[in-house]
Amino acid sequence: MRILVAYESRGGHTKATAEAIAGIASTGRGEVEVRSIRGLPQWEVLGHDLVFLGTWVDGFVVAGVRPARLMRLWVDDLPDLQGTNVALFCSYAVNPRGMLDGFQGMLASKGGKVLTTQAFPRRHPDQEARGFVNRAFALARADAAGRQGWLAGPALRPRV
Ligand SMILES: Cc1cc2nc3c(=O)[nH]c(=O)nc-3n(C[C@H](O)[C@H](O)[C@H](O)COP(=O)(O)O)c2cc1C
Repeated sequence: MRILVAYESRGGHTKATAEAIAGIASTGRGEVEVRSIRGLPQWEVLGHDLVFLGTWVDGFVVAGVRPARLMRLWVDDLPDLQGTNVALFCSYAVNPRGMLDGFQGMLASKGGKVLTTQAFPRRHPDQEARGFVNRAFALARADAAGRQGWLAGPALRPRV
C-alpha cells in the first residue's frame, strides 16, 4: 500500500500530528511518505492508495473557520482525484467547529473519496492518532474489497 501524509503547518502542531500519523501508519502497512504541501506538486497525490491530508484551523474562533489559506489554494489546484481514498485531519486551538465538513466538501469536489476525519487539539497532537489511522485503514480495506468484489462479477458478490 502506498500512503501519503501531507500537511500544512505554520507553527509545527499539524506537522507533529502528521508525523504521529505517519509513524503509526508505517508499522507493517506499506510505504509511507510524509510531506509538507509547500513544494508538494498536486499531481503527486495520484498513485497513492490512501492520503492523509491535514491543516491547521484558520478563523475567528466563533465564525469563518476554514482550512489554512495555503491548503485551500493547494486543494484548488488538485487534479481529478478519481476516487482516491482520503482521510482528513486538522489541528486547532479552541474549537474546529464545522471546518472539517467544509474541508471534506472541498476534497469531494475534486473527486476524492473522504473516508473519515479527525480534529486534534494542538495541546495533544497525537492523542487520537492511533484510532484515526486504524479507522482509515479499515475503511480503505473495505473499499478495496468492495471494488474487487464488484470487478469479480455477480458470482462472487455477496448475496443480499
Ligand atoms: C490566523 C489564525 C487563526 C486561527 N483561527 C483559529 C480558529 O478560528 N479556531 C481555532 O480553534 N484555532 C484557530 N487558530 C489556531 C490554530 O489552528 C492552531 O494553533 C493550530 O494548532 C496551528 O497549527 P500549526 O502549529 O501547525 O500551524 C488560529 C491560528 C491562527 C494563526
